[in-house]
Amino acid sequence: MLIILLGPPGAGKGTQAERLVHKYRLVYIATGDILRGAIKSGSALGQQARQYMEQGQLVPDDVVVGIVNERLLEPDCEGGALLDGFPRTVVQARALDQVLAAMDKPLDRVVHISVNEEELIARLTGRRVCRECGATYHTKFNPPRVRNVCDQCGGELYQREDDSLATVTERLAVYRKQTEPLIEYYRQQDLLSTINGNQEIEQIFTQICAILDAME
Ligand code: AP5
Repeated sequence: MLIILLGPPGAGKGTQAERLVHKYRLVYIATGDILRGAIKSGSALGQQARQYMEQGQLVPDDVVVGIVNERLLEPDCEGGALLDGFPRTVVQARALDQVLAAMDKPLDRVVHISVNEEELIARLTGRRVCRECGATYHTKFNPPRVRNVCDQCGGELYQREDDSLATVTERLAVYRKQTEPLIEYYRQQDLLSTINGNQEIEQIFTQICAILDAME
């Protein structure tokens, strides 16, 4: 099964992905996490990506396409994968179509999580992430049991640099301009399922599972 989670920053892609990869045993490919990992390690990729990410801009297509193509060719992806945060432009979507055609693998479904902008801003500015395992929380909507401590591994929670109000505003504008056209791109291929993301986390998860189960 090869699935894409599509949606604006803060829609809950990462939150749903955590649950979906566990339930369906999918390899999780999140370009934002890969890029943040590269920045943390100080690699050449990280140095290149940092300036774009800090400003809320997209990292150049060729860089991101290269990362995803390489990852999809690894043997553990044979059993299926979930893409979160990729593709984000029509150029990236076309590149993905090409690599999947070369691998003779179909794209099974694109799950689009739709959320209004006011809610997105509230979610992003209140988000906290575990430094150790990457689990995601929210100060109000999904708080950890102990303040600033991860429920899953006990790691310290932190606020992402690009979750400041100014950068969030820019990321939302970039999404509307560069990523939103993908909704139509996948609708035309009859691959799109849109979910109302203004619901409880568990309700959204149940609805996504119903879509994926109906495919099997
Ligand atoms: P990336 O890391 O992919 O960020 P994003 O797409 O902006 O998405 P987020 O991680 O911010 O949001 P999410 O939808 O995963 O929401 P979450 O589940 O955390 O990308 C970061 C940067 O990397 C980009 O800006 C770009 O520079 C670069 N990049 C990455 N991929 C790229 C690509 N393909 N091309 C070029 N550049 C790329 O939830 C948010 C919060 O809300 C959390 O606190 C959560 O607890 C809470 N929450 C979740 N669901 C609910 C709910 N239903 N109700 C209430 N609260 C909820």
